[in-house]
Amino acid sequence: MVKTVVVVGAGFTGLPTAHKLLIYTAPKVQEKLKVVLISPNSHFYWNLAAVRGVIPGAIPDEQLFLPVADAFSRYPSENFEFILGKADRLQPESKSVHIAANDGTTREITYDQLVIATGSTIRGDLPFKSLGTHESTINALHSLQNEIKNANSITIAGAGPTGVETAGELAAAYGNQKQITLICAGDNVLHTSEVLPSVFQTVERDLQKLGVKVIHKTKVETSSKESGGQTKLVLSNGENLTTDLYLPLFGVQVNTAWLPSTLLDEAGNVKLDPYMRVQGTSNVWGIGDIGNLEPKQVTSTDQQIIDLAGNLDLVLTEQESKIKEHKVADKKMIFITLGKSYATGQIGWWKVWGWLTAYIKGRKIFVDSAPNYVNGKALRHASM
Ligand SMILES: Cc1cc2nc3c(=O)[nH]c(=O)nc-3n(C[C@H](O)[C@H](O)[C@H](O)COP(=O)(O)OP(=O)(O)OC[C@H]3O[C@@H](n4cnc5c(N)ncnc54)[C@H](O)[C@@H]3O)c2cc1C
Ligand SMILES: *[C@@H]1O[C@H](CO)[C@@H](O)[C@H](O)[C@H]1NC(C)=O
Repeated sequence: MVKTVVVVGAGFTGLPTAHKLLIYTAPKVQEKLKVVLISPNSHFYWNLAAVRGVIPGAIPDEQLFLPVADAFSRYPSENFEFILGKADRLQPESKSVHIAANDGTTREITYDQLVIATGSTIRGDLPFKSLGTHESTINALHSLQNEIKNANSITIAGAGPTGVETAGELAAAYGNQKQITLICAGDNVLHTSEVLPSVFQTVERDLQKLGVKVIHKTKVETSSKESGGQTKLVLSNGENLTTDLYLPLFGVQVNTAWLPSTLLDEAGNVKLDPYMRVQGTSNVWGIGDIGNLEPKQVTSTDQQIIDLAGNLDLVLTEQESKIKEHKVADKKMIFITLGKSYATGQIGWWKVWGWLTAYIKGRKIFVDSAPNYVNGKALRHASM
């Protein structure tokens, strides 16, 4: 009997997990292993670099988007299938996933093991993450690039990593040609209890040097398009602001609406046990942003991929009693780049030198490592 592993989502965690199963586990499975990868986007989006990729001409499309099918073409077709579509229903009792394919057809697929890796999007529906199909994502990115080119004023709401980096990239690219404004809900940018004051203070200072106007302790209450194409923002500080282009970059939304609500916590995260298995199931697993174990960043995903692929390998080779717990990363890690010259970071309670972060991340935001990552040759900082 063929054993089928269905991996839903071909992003930063689902795609390498599928590679690992095909490379290491498939040769060991007595009967036959079939890996089915499901994703609505034909191309992998190296969205870490989207904060710079939105600037026209900054990063070529083919460095930001890499074809998924090519990355798996070396595996025998009896072991691998890529389905372009979206999972829209999971029925754990019948071990089946319902799929709405991009071509308009629907399908029901049964699995022996299921991996949920559908990740997250940002609430504003901007192309900083995949927006469904590759075509809709790349079209949205091109029109955003065009809007950025034509705008004299750009206002970003949300001072988390994505908002901060986008403001910094825009200011670094355009200097005083465009007014860049960042609206920050808290007293400081990047304000979570885990970010060192010395880190967010450095970022505040660098944004100021780059000419970004930061408005603190303020939220956008409403936004509305004016007849001339500008956007009017009503702010919680009592002021109104009119801007050529408004980019709401706050709020991460996990893509878990397709799952039974019994599997989710109040915030919509999938409840995982220490083995990365979905609580209350025996053969459903979760990885990446959808989970409730770790911050929604790629800093800890290498270890998640290694541990989940290891556990699936054991289960698929009849050694389930040996599965291991995933050790949650205990160090806060964050690297913030604002264009190529300004950067800072934090590892645990250590503030990383700006020049080092600029060197490691700022030059290219890792686009040079994307081909090996997508083709299953390497994880981000570990070997495949
Ligand atoms: C602009 C930006 C910059 C970032 N920069 C950094 C950074 O510098 N460092 C860092 O650590 N983290 C960064 N992150 C966070 C990082 O992108 C995420 O942590 C990472 O993408 C999570 O990987 P994932 O596999 O869980 O999900 P994703 O990479 O989001 O992949 C999910 C995949 O599932 C697909 N999918 C969604 N719904 C369905 C469905 N119903 N059926 C089938 N497929 C589906 C999606 O199309 C996508 O292909 C950044 C995020 C953004 C938005
Ligand atoms: C801001 O806009 C709102 C709604 O259009 C309006 O009622 C209010 O008077 C404006 N406030 C200021 C300070 O201009």
